[in-house]
Amino acid sequence: MSKWALVLVSVLSSVYLSNAYKILVIFPLPGKSHSILAEGVVNHLSRAGHEITYVTSIIPDKLQNGVTIVDVSSSVKLETKMLNIKSIMNNEIENEFLTSMNMFMEMSKKAISNEKIQELLSDKSQQFDVIIAEWMLNEVYAGFAGIYNCPFIWFSTVEPHWMVLQLVDEMPNPSYTSNIMSATVPPLSFPQRITELGVQIMGKLFQNWYVSGIENKIYETYLAPHIRARGYTMPPLELLKQNVSLVLSNSHVSMGVATRLPPNFIPVGGYHIDAVVKPLSEDLRKLMDNAKHGVIYFSMGSNLRSQHFPIEVKQELLNMFGELKQTVLWKFEEDLPNRPDNVHILKWAPQQSILAHNNCVLFITHGGLLSTTESIHFGVPTIGIPVFGDQYVNVARGVRKGYAKKVDLSYSMAKNLKVAIQEMINDSSFTKKVKELSFIYHHRTTHPGKELVHWVEHVIKTGGALHLRSPAFLTPWYQKVYLDLAIVLLVLIIAIKYLFRYICSTIRNKRSTSSKKKQK
Ligand SMILES: *[C@@H]1O[C@H](CO)[C@@H](O)[C@H](O)[C@H]1NC(C)=O
Repeated sequence: MSKWALVLVSVLSSVYLSNAYKILVIFPLPGKSHSILAEGVVNHLSRAGHEITYVTSIIPDKLQNGVTIVDVSSSVKLETKMLNIKSIMNNEIENEFLTSMNMFMEMSKKAISNEKIQELLSDKSQQFDVIIAEWMLNEVYAGFAGIYNCPFIWFSTVEPHWMVLQLVDEMPNPSYTSNIMSATVPPLSFPQRITELGVQIMGKLFQNWYVSGIENKIYETYLAPHIRARGYTMPPLELLKQNVSLVLSNSHVSMGVATRLPPNFIPVGGYHIDAVVKPLSEDLRKLMDNAKHGVIYFSMGSNLRSQHFPIEVKQELLNMFGELKQTVLWKFEEDLPNRPDNVHILKWAPQQSILAHNNCVLFITHGGLLSTTESIHFGVPTIGIPVFGDQYVNVARGVRKGYAKKVDLSYSMAKNLKVAIQEMINDSSFTKKVKELSFIYHHRTTHPGKELVHWVEHVIKTGGALHLRSPAFLTPWYQKVYLDLAIVLLVLIIAIKYLFRYICSTIRNKRSTSSKKKQK
């Protein structure tokens, strides 16, 4: 009897005490790596018992219970030229920063104006406890917080840099902080420091004068009507941007640079990797088990298609791999003719399971952050061939940390790759270094997935985590550099100078008049 009472009590209490929250997760970017990160967020939160509405353009294969999909794929599409290796190699892509800025702004607009989203927003019975949105070069999604009048969390997919740090804190010092598009690692040289300063100042002016205007227009056109429909007064977007509760950052100090972070900037890098690695298929396992000289795994990531490699480069790579003793697993979307025996093409590669295998000795990668994270997680040294975005800085950090080598994407890359492979295979210091970093990466108080859930719940339970907000965020820059004090001091000095002059001249005048009187 008492046993049943206990069961009843525990069941009832779990029903009443469990806090299932309603969470809106906004990750509309149509890139595979972005959807892997998004699904990680969705899965961790839904496994913790929360009800998720997930805005995406890539529908997950498996749906967790309690997840509702808002499919925006009809309007959000990726510009394929940006991701075509050949056009990148031929320098057909212009000013990357401006192009990406405009491209992602257009994408945000298409996502927000999508009919499915608009339908969701006009449903006045719908309410959320928190919103989590992926940050990608603009802040217009902060406008969603105005509709649901709830806390807002940014998700940053890369290592901390000035644009995401300033979402909840101040701009970092450019003399030792690289921006996402640069490939520099501190300590910075004199020209590098000037470049970083220039990028921050120009970037900030660009945001204030160009980007925020477009953001406001999107906000007023597509989000503000829903705020008014709910009977709320429409807050300026600027106010919502300043009211962000937290940044979840897909980063960890083992991969990046030790950066000062405010208390509401939480690094959760590695949360997307399951604690238990899925077993390899029978064929692949046998292949890897039998590789006496080890396995080299080559993948340019999920966005870039290796089939866009120029034909001559493909053939040279194939020949070069054929000269190696190692078994090569090449993730490639098409089968290649005249393949050497030690080279195997995988149309789809279980990357984590391959890296987890003991015989995997080297990972040739484009240096995306997911691949970088996985190489550290499983302790495999890398050769990075960066193509765009944060890949340059990821690879540069790996080189500086001593577990990676960089090879440029070029028509002569097969030759350079061979040199790099041989150097790395013959020098154990790369593997030693990556194992050290892997230890640092794993040596945390808790799994990053748990951390993620904890902080999202913390924001909800504390009504927006106002206590975590850094006062630095709302202190104007001129106050931080004490420009006001400088002006007061300047005025004082000038005033004293004139006062002094005045006193001197009156004394002189008095003396001269009195001496004149004496002369008379
Ligand atoms: C700012 O955020 C807090 C907590 O998330 C919320 O209660 C408040 O209404 C928000 N203020 C504005 C102006 O949106």
